Order: sequence, then structure tokens, then C-alpha cells
Amino acid sequence: MARKLITLALLLVSTASVSTLAQAQSSSAIYSDKRIAINISQAEKNQVLYEMREFLHGLHNINHALARQDMKAVAITARPMGSLRDRMPASLKERMPEEFTQLSIAMNEAFLTLARDAESKDEAGKDKMRQVHENLAEVMTYCSGCHDTYRFNVVPVKARK
Ligand code: HEC
Repeated sequence: MARKLITLALLLVSTASVSTLAQAQSSSAIYSDKRIAINISQAEKNQVLYEMREFLHGLHNINHALARQDMKAVAITARPMGSLRDRMPASLKERMPEEFTQLSIAMNEAFLTLARDAESKDEAGKDKMRQVHENLAEVMTYCSGCHDTYRFNVVPVKARK
């Protein structure tokens, strides 16, 4: 399911760039924003973007912990990070497109898998560092997939759909 959505998101983006190339090669065409707009109030946007910056801090901390090979710190940082949906205002959750919701759920699962693998017992012949790096790359597939697909559009509260 999650894989299918990512493929969909990536497909959307690649289709967008092909049609962009077919247009005149002016920079305005190249940089035109083809992402799907999600209507949101200013206060909701502030809250979600705060969470987004926390994601970036979290990835930063996970990378530092990985460099120290401190798997306990990796797990402690990663476990609570993915539950973005739980921290979003209820009014917002209900209005998110289905794919947006699926991407957040899949990202949460990837964070939990990362935490679980980081805490798993060392097994002979298993390279845990490599595994956790792979898990981290998987998490970031969802960051990029969602960013490539959606943008927020601030509207007055009454005009939100
Ligand atoms: C389900 C969708 C989704 C996922 C998953 C997601 N983001 Fe975002 N993120 C957004 C949207 C939408 C914006 C606003 C983009 C816009 O309006 O231009 C955003 C904005 C941001 C910003 C800009 C914050 C600011 O203050 O302007 C950062 C940083 C960010 N995301 C980091 C991350 C990281 C790191 C991850 C993965 C761990 C992640 N995001 C996962 C949807 C998502």
C-alpha cells in the first residue's frame, strides 16, 4: 500500500517534470509549482510546520547517534517521531487528502521499524548499522514523497474546505 502511494507520488512528480520540459525552457516554466495545494488556516500551518522542523531536528539527532553507534539513542529519538497525525489538530486531520494521511501513517511505521531494528539484539553476521541506515533512507522516502506532492495554501478559516 505504502509503496504504491510512493510510486504514485513519484509518478506525479516525473510526469510534472516531463510536461515542464515540453514547455518553453524559461525558468518560470521549470520552477512552476505543480504540487497539490491543501487549504489550511495560518494557525494550522504554523502548527504543522513546527512539527516539520521537529522532524528535521530528529533526523539530525538520529544521524549524530548513528555516527556514535549509539543505537539506544537512535531508538529513543525515532520512536515518538512518526506520530505526526496524533499531534495534528482534529479539524485538520479530517480535511487531509487520503494519500497525505497514508503517507503520514507509512512514515510513522518506518520510524517504528527503525526504532525496533536499532534496539534489536546483535546477531552474528548481521550489520545493524547498515540496516538502520537503510531504515533511515526509507523514512526519508516519505519526507520527499510528500513534499514533492503537496503544498499548503493559507486561506481564511471560513474558506477552508
Ligand atoms: C504527509 C506529508 C509530509 C510528510 C510525510 C513530511 N512532510 Fe514536511 N512538509 C509537508 C508540507 C505539505 C510542507 C509545507 C510545504 C509548502 O507549503 O511549501 C512541509 C514542510 C516541511 C519543512 C519546512 C518547515 C518550515 O518551517 O517552513 C520541513 C523542514 C519539513 N517539512 C521536514 C520534513 C521531514 C524531515 C520529514 C520526514 C521525516 C517530513 N517533513 C515529512 C508535508 C510532509
